[in-house]
Amino acid sequence: MAYKRVEVPAAELERQREICAKIREGLGGARPLAFVDTYGCQQNEADSEALRGYIELMGFGFTEDENEAELIVVNTCAVRGHAEMRVLGNVGALVHAKARNPRLIVAVCGCMVQQPHMAEKIKNSFRVVDLCFGPHELWRFPELYERAARRRGRVFEVSPCEGVVAEGLPVHRQGSVKAWLSVMYGCNNFCTYCIVPYVRGRERSREPEAVLREFESLVRQGYKDITLLGQNVNSYGNDLGGKCDFPDLLRKINDIPGDFWVRFMTSHPKDATKKLFDTMAECEKVCTSIHLPVQAGSDRVLQDMNRRYTAEKYLSLVDYARKLMPDLTITSDIIVGFPGETDEEFESSLAFVRKVGFARAHVFAYSRRPGTRAYDMGDQLTNAVKEARSHEMIRVTTATQQAFFKAQIGRTEEVLFEREIQKGVWEGYSMNYTPVAVASDTSLAGEIRSVRIESCTDTHCMGAVL
Ligand code: SAH
Ligand code: SF4
Ligand code: F3S
Repeated sequence: MAYKRVEVPAAELERQREICAKIREGLGGARPLAFVDTYGCQQNEADSEALRGYIELMGFGFTEDENEAELIVVNTCAVRGHAEMRVLGNVGALVHAKARNPRLIVAVCGCMVQQPHMAEKIKNSFRVVDLCFGPHELWRFPELYERAARRRGRVFEVSPCEGVVAEGLPVHRQGSVKAWLSVMYGCNNFCTYCIVPYVRGRERSREPEAVLREFESLVRQGYKDITLLGQNVNSYGNDLGGKCDFPDLLRKINDIPGDFWVRFMTSHPKDATKKLFDTMAECEKVCTSIHLPVQAGSDRVLQDMNRRYTAEKYLSLVDYARKLMPDLTITSDIIVGFPGETDEEFESSLAFVRKVGFARAHVFAYSRRPGTRAYDMGDQLTNAVKEARSHEMIRVTTATQQAFFKAQIGRTEEVLFEREIQKGVWEGYSMNYTPVAVASDTSLAGEIRSVRIESCTDTHCMGAVL
């Protein structure tokens, strides 16, 4: 692919920080509030943390109440039509907040607005929006905000772009125990149903040194459960001239001193290698869980999805990995109702899910995305068929999840606790990504404890702290 990796010059990023400082000075000691509303995947969550980093430098505080905010940023997702409808509904409703506070600035960013038809729609039909920018412009948010705040017209920055790498953005993280860390951006795979490669640009990896520096700083700050992000982490380093692939990166991270767990997502089965699983098995800080979306169990459907593996190849990966790591947790994504999916093909997806016995799987009804190849495929299925198949698939994934939970009973697991879900009940995840709940009168937030799993509910393994 003739894509050339572009890094944003450090001086440009410095200029953005200077703009933040100028905005902060202009506030004259006031501390207005901003609301950053995020849709979509972890990549978007990570992007919102960088936006918050900038917004904090601009002198703002944060709120989740749109009526208190002077700035609302809606970071959008385009992966399914449903997500887009929700965003449009919520953005439209901001006219009330704007009527109450005419100074309010409304920004809409992220994957949805990188689609030209959506940017156009917002321009024409959502006058409440002052600023609109795609994922490739995020690094220059301060400059765009400043332009919008001058109010000489609405600002739209959504030109086509193959993507850049911006190092050293300020990051305001939400949690203090779990953290996201992007190791690469974009996607080259063009699965025929998927909008992501169109809106997120080409694959580009961060330099390993930059990733390691950020990781070390997270460990120093006390983060204990760090997830490396990329649309397909298994192609990490393909653009770095062979000096460091993803397993190499995992090994370097595992060598960082400190008490932490490292996870990663997402892995594309076509690029998952024995080296990846060997490395996971050998590195004690790398969690024994993997999210490996299969999407479908029928080879014909997989081929039309352009996934470039067969059900057989997927099973052989699972087989290899489970032999090395008997406790490995495998989670997945499944799409039902892809164009032309017959009853038999759907049945083979159901059988496949039972056969692998996923610990958890997200089930998605196929959503037709304008501009993708599957959009123009014949034999699009009706909503009724897609819904019925979703229900049936969810029944099966719920059953495999229950079987997985039951198999945990009697085991002792290290659990990192996060929050109180009911009075006196604390929830966390084990290293192998099992949701665990225990009773405790004292706070367990941020603590890693050994827990003996004793029973399970529909949603959790229940246990007792040892
Ligand atoms: N890069 C990741 C996933 C990104 S999108 C990967 O390859 O696994 C997350 C999930 O959304 C996908 O795994 C897929 O199951 C689902 N998805 C993507 N496009 C979709 C569409 N058009 N309709 C329904 N589900 C979709
Ligand atoms: Fe979409 Fe496929 Fe890329 Fe994942 S690998 S982001 S599903 S095109
Ligand atoms: Fe959605 Fe963009 Fe993520 S389309 S799933 S927010 S990469």
